[in-house]
Amino acid sequence: MKARKIKENIYWMGSVDWDSRLFDSLIPLPEGTSYNAYLIKGSEKTVLLDTVDPPMAKEFMAQLAGIPKIDYIVSQHAEQDHSGTILQVLKKYPEAKLISTPKAKGMLIDLLKIPEECFITVADGETLSLGDKTLKFIYTPWVHWPETMVTYLEEDKILFSCDFFGSHIATADLFVIDEGRVYEAAKRYFAEIMMPFRSTIKKNLDKLASYEIDMIAPGHGQLFPRPEFIIDAYREWTLGAPVNKVVLPHISMHGSTQQMVDYFIAALVAKGVQVEPFNLAVTDIGKLAMALVDAATIVVGTPTVLAGPHPYAAYAAFLANALRPNTKFLSIIGSFGWGGKTVDTLAGMIPNLKVEVLDPVLCKGVPTDTVFQSLDDLAALIAQKHKKDGYK
Ligand code: FEO
Repeated sequence: MKARKIKENIYWMGSVDWDSRLFDSLIPLPEGTSYNAYLIKGSEKTVLLDTVDPPMAKEFMAQLAGIPKIDYIVSQHAEQDHSGTILQVLKKYPEAKLISTPKAKGMLIDLLKIPEECFITVADGETLSLGDKTLKFIYTPWVHWPETMVTYLEEDKILFSCDFFGSHIATADLFVIDEGRVYEAAKRYFAEIMMPFRSTIKKNLDKLASYEIDMIAPGHGQLFPRPEFIIDAYREWTLGAPVNKVVLPHISMHGSTQQMVDYFIAALVAKGVQVEPFNLAVTDIGKLAMALVDAATIVVGTPTVLAGPHPYAAYAAFLANALRPNTKFLSIIGSFGWGGKTVDTLAGMIPNLKVEVLDPVLCKGVPTDTVFQSLDDLAALIAQKHKKDGYK
């Protein structure tokens, strides 16, 4: 794709990655993604904001072919999908200075071996004049690394935000058209990498509240001509207010746990509790992460295998512990053959979750009527606790 004009002297550059289906060897990309860089031509200086993932470098460098001079490269975030082509850009423009936070400077040196003399570090709130345009650098740490900052173009009221407000969507549309589609993708992205830092991100939102923002230009996905849409969504997600919902990651080997899961889903529905089941044999962990953003309760469904939880259930517990959702209750259901330590093992894997553990429902072999009654009782207890705490 060629560079695209956003406003006079402001251009999108970068690459739309239509085909990638996995990011960081971990995060599913059902809709691909884009790596967005931006070129701003001031009356005196030209600046490039971020670069692209190294596999996209050829396309990106071709976009720069007609740009005779770049005075500054701004690295808003040191992760390689935005910084990985900086060395190639510096090679083409050896006179350019690389602007970053002091923390990002150290990381860029560690990750990319960028020579120290290339850098100019900026303080929080520092400005840079390009002549008729002014950039203001605003520290926004932990979105989702510690060194992250955003850049505000004062005259045009554009906020360049890198990962902040981003979404993994590959599309030929530069600007958001379908807000519902972007809401889902941006929530998924928030859940996958930002949820553990939501209290700091909330402070970053408060910090940005005093800026008049006409447009947000993120590092992934489409640009927001109506910024309040995504800012309001982030306000909701960073609050992490639980709703009347059970997230049910589950796996079964010979069908007994599956019978319990199926029965339990119906029991929750009968009690008026929303439920989102995820069969861990086939699930998309991004959707699981997204469901955790506002779930009041997690119930893990797992058989006992090798004296503990199924490894896929352990993976889900590890993931939930790392993502630190604001979940309030947790329980376990499942079948075992002769014994094991499934409950102890899973309970020991979630130290970050400040949850009340509700008595698990375990059964030997296939579930009996007594087991189904216990599942009804667990569903009733969850419904009662959600109601008591006012989760809707
Ligand atoms: Fe899009 Fe944290 O990199």
